[in-house]
Amino acid sequence: MVVHEWEPFNAEPPPGVLAEAPITPVEAFYSRNHGPVPDTDRDSWRLAVAGLVDRPLSLSLSDLRRDFEPCTLAVTLQCAGNRRAGMAAVREIPGEDPWGDGATSTAEWTGARLADVLVAAHPSGRAAHVAFEAVDVSPLARPAQPYGASIPFSKASAPEVLLAWAMNGRPLPAAHGAPLRVVVPGYIGARSVKWVRRVVARAEPSDNYFQAVAYRLLPPDADPDRAGPGDGLSLGPIALNSAILRPADGTSVPPGRTTVRGYALAGEHRRVARVDLSADGGASWRQAELDPAAGAYTWQLWHADVTLPPSSDVELVARAWDDTGALQPESPRALWNPKGYANNSWPRAAIHISPSP
Ligand code: MTE
Repeated sequence: MVVHEWEPFNAEPPPGVLAEAPITPVEAFYSRNHGPVPDTDRDSWRLAVAGLVDRPLSLSLSDLRRDFEPCTLAVTLQCAGNRRAGMAAVREIPGEDPWGDGATSTAEWTGARLADVLVAAHPSGRAAHVAFEAVDVSPLARPAQPYGASIPFSKASAPEVLLAWAMNGRPLPAAHGAPLRVVVPGYIGARSVKWVRRVVARAEPSDNYFQAVAYRLLPPDADPDRAGPGDGLSLGPIALNSAILRPADGTSVPPGRTTVRGYALAGEHRRVARVDLSADGGASWRQAELDPAAGAYTWQLWHADVTLPPSSDVELVARAWDDTGALQPESPRALWNPKGYANNSWPRAAIHISPSP
C-alpha cells in the first residue's frame, strides 16, 4: 500500500493492483480515516434507529441478521479526494493527502438493507434525511467529534443501501468499519459511515462536521480554514470518472504492443457507456474494451491494446462517456477547489519507452 498517513491511517493500493480483478482483495482495499480505528466488540454492539420514527429500535448484530433478509452486493467505494494529486498539480492543496488513482476499490458487501430497517422503525412523513453516527472521534473536526454523515431519505430507502457486516465473504475488518458500516453505492465514500451505532431520521441533513463543513465543494477563492456550516456545495452522488492503472504514470515500457488497463465509474443511476484511449496525448483515439462488471454498482475495468513507438516517450490519455452521452471534463484546471475534491478530469500517464524496462 502507498501510505499517506499512519495516524489516522490513510493508504491506497498501487495502481496496478486495482487492475488485477473487478473485486479488490481486502488487503488491497483503500483505507480512509479521520481518527483512530476504534476498538469495538461484535457481541455487545447495538445499532439504534431513532429520530423521526414512531418505533425506535435497538438492534444487536444477531437481530439484524435474524430479522432482515441479508443481501450481498458488489459496490465500488470512491473517496471524494480520489485523484487529488492531479488537481494539486494545477495549484497546491495544503493540508490534504495527495491521493492518486487508488482512493477507490470494489468489494462484495453483505448486510441488511437500510430501507428494510427504516420500514421496521415506522418513519414519520417528515423524515427527509437519514443521518449516521459513528464511534470514532476525529480530532480533525472543528470541534473534535465522532464521525457522521447523512443521505437523503429517498436514497436511504433505495434497495442498494446496506448496513453491512461482511466484506468479500468475511466479517468486516476493523479498518473497514467492524462490526457494522453503511454502504451507499453511487455516493462519495464519506457517506458510507464505518462503525455506525445510530441511524437517525431527520428533517434536515446531518449537522456533523463531515457533512455540514467538510466534503463540500468550495469556490476556488474560498479559504477552507474559515469555511462554516453550509458553505459550498454538499457532495453526494459521485461524478463520472476514470483512471489509467497500467502501465502506470512515470513507468518505462518496451516498444511494441502493450495492453493498457484502467477503470471507469459512472455516478448515481448511470452506466459507463464507452472509454476511449489515446497513445499520442489526445491527437487520435481508439475505443477500449469494457470488461464485464461485477454488478450494477461497480466500476467497469477496461483495456486497450496499443503499439508503442520504438523511441520517443508517449502520453496515454483516457476519457469515459456515460449512458447520458456525458463525457469527463478534459482538464483539472476548471475543477480546482481548495479541498481538492472530485477531480474527474481525463487521466494522463507519461510513459517512457525503453528497450529494457
Ligand atoms: N466512517 C467513519 N466512521 N470514519 C471515517 O473516517 N471515512 C469515510 C467513510 N466512512 C470514515 C467513515 C471516507 S471519507 C471514506 S472515503 C470511506 O469511509 C472509506 O472507507 P474505507 O476506509 O473502508 O475504504
